[in-house]
Amino acid sequence: SRRVSVRDIGLAKERGEKWPMLTAYDAMTASVFDEAGIPVMLVGDSAGNCHLGYDTTVPVTLDQMVLLSAAVVRGTSRALIVGDLPFGSYQEGPTQALRSAMRLVKEAGVTAVKLEGGERSHAQIKLLVDAGIPVMAHIGLTPQSVNTQGYRVQGRGEEAAQQLLRDAKAVQDAGAFAVVLELVPAELAAEVTRVLQIPTVGIGAGAGTDAQVLVWTDALGLTGGRMPRFVKKYAELRGVMSDAAKAFAEDVIGGTFPQEEHSVH
Ligand code: KIV
Ligand code: NA
Repeated sequence: SRRVSVRDIGLAKERGEKWPMLTAYDAMTASVFDEAGIPVMLVGDSAGNCHLGYDTTVPVTLDQMVLLSAAVVRGTSRALIVGDLPFGSYQEGPTQALRSAMRLVKEAGVTAVKLEGGERSHAQIKLLVDAGIPVMAHIGLTPQSVNTQGYRVQGRGEEAAQQLLRDAKAVQDAGAFAVVLELVPAELAAEVTRVLQIPTVGIGAGAGTDAQVLVWTDALGLTGGRMPRFVKKYAELRGVMSDAAKAFAEDVIGGTFPQEEHSVH
């Protein structure tokens, strides 16, 4: 069976169907989500935080994203795979963006790429789409700009709301097939969703978007510490894994593993 296509995603909006997206960073996890029927997976540069141990997404490199994206593509057969362009791989301009996106497409095998920025990324999005690479845009809170923007709600107040609407229209005009809205007021995200023809993918953007995305380690309860308000935990993997690791350690220390059935003669 073929993979979900960018066209399928557009048709879902016409039909008024909502869809889920999860991040994935490795083949095994991606295969679980693929079998579970998650139609779109994002190899997010959130891998920097939840997979590579960085504090932000800023240090993540294109080589790292190629490696992780290739693993996710290999682990899946059905989902549409979107690879994140990391910080520094498209800010120089459209030709740098195209060179970077081509690596994710040709070396990793992703179908589409994602990059941050609305009006400021119009030229990059347009060149990629013209070249045949579907682009998912990302506006509102853009974590690669943490050092200028911080991590706070975007689009609050009339001026900021108008800017977000201009950003949304700019990425649609440039040819993006979908747009992530991160940490924006629910009413504004719903308005953007009504105004745009392309689907909106919300994270911390309320119930009015066409799709929802969560970082998988947050959604499945593997991330430690306090979660942002917009996360819903669908499992408690951290506890499950910790208990299993402790049980293994106890068995080894106590001499109760391995047993006869685990041994060969
Ligand atoms: O990197 C990421 O996981 C993302 C999503 C939060 C949209 O960009
Ligand atoms: Na990202």
